[in-house]
Amino acid sequence: MKKILFVIAAAAMMLVGCTKELTQKVDKIEKDLASLETRVAELEKSLNSEVANLKTLIDAVEKKIVVASATQTSNGWELVLTDGKKVTLTNGKDGANGTNGTNGTNGKDGKDGHTPVVGIKAENGVLYLTVDGEFILVDGAKVPATGATGENGAAGADALELNVMSLCTRKSYTYGDFEKMHEAIVANVAGKINIPIIVKLGANISNPVALADSLYARGAKGVVLFNRFYPTDIDIDKMSFTMSSPFTTSSDLSQSIRWAGIITASVPQLPVAVSGGVDSYKGIVKSILSGASAVEVASAIMKNGAGWITQANEALATWQKEKGYGTINEYKGKMNAADPENADRLMRTQFLKYFSEIH
Ligand SMILES: Cc1cc2nc3c(=O)[nH]c(=O)nc-3n(C[C@H](O)[C@H](O)[C@H](O)COP(=O)(O)O)c2cc1C
Repeated sequence: MKKILFVIAAAAMMLVGCTKELTQKVDKIEKDLASLETRVAELEKSLNSEVANLKTLIDAVEKKIVVASATQTSNGWELVLTDGKKVTLTNGKDGANGTNGTNGTNGKDGKDGHTPVVGIKAENGVLYLTVDGEFILVDGAKVPATGATGENGAAGADALELNVMSLCTRKSYTYGDFEKMHEAIVANVAGKINIPIIVKLGANISNPVALADSLYARGAKGVVLFNRFYPTDIDIDKMSFTMSSPFTTSSDLSQSIRWAGIITASVPQLPVAVSGGVDSYKGIVKSILSGASAVEVASAIMKNGAGWITQANEALATWQKEKGYGTINEYKGKMNAADPENADRLMRTQFLKYFSEIH
């Protein structure tokens, strides 16, 4: 029984101890709560005041009321608006300073950069490439700074066309000088290059047959009949020089096919190209019939684009087939001056028969 009483007494004492501790804690919580309530009330008051000030400012903006004066106070600004209202702007409290961080340790210094110096050094009379004064070695061998003399490269062009044209206007001109100039040019160039030379002639030559023969003897591998001079014209209203159409028409073909017909008969070993007035497959056919091996075309391609070439070739093939020819060679030169009848027509210069025919 005594033992039981002792246990109850001990339990009662512990209970009293616990109750006292609890009471102290509750007191502290009540005090903290009261302090918190006071601070919240102050904050609320302060916030309400700021909100009121802001509202005044927003109202002022809406009513287009502006600030008449601004005075700095100990903890903010006092604004006076144009409607007389005052607005107090209070600075917020400064935050507490942060604690200093700990210093970091210094990094190590980097190495200086190095720019390699490429140079040249002689050894036994030969120059070699170096880096920083040391020979560059590739598979253990020094790299020479100079190479052996290379062989001449091949010419890029398959042939060269010499366009020789000039207006002979000197009073002191000696007949034949112009033709001799052609001969000298061809002889000089032919002696220096090893690709075929073709000479494009102007039409202002007194005897294209003799010149073609002479040029062939000096190394020309073909002639082009003919180049076209810049077509000068006169504007009679402005009294000034102009350029007539730069382009040819099929009527310009006449003198080229005439001389092609005569030259290919007289100098058959010399290939001839017709240029000037080939504006359709018909011009190509006429040139081939006159003995030409090729045509050169500028105006038609400039006017119609490169597609003209395909169209002309297709039309030429159709004509050839319709005439029953299998190849160009079967009709090439068929109408040149090798046939005396053709020669008669090609060398005709007078209109006389034209007038007699229309009577
Ligand atoms: C707009 C134009 C520019 C030309 N320019 C040159 C030239 O710079 N050099 C030249 O040798 N011939 C020139 N020619 C002449 C052509 O090479 C060609 O001999 C001439 O036009 C006759 O050919 P086509 O009837 O096919 O036009 C030119 C021709 C044209 C239409």
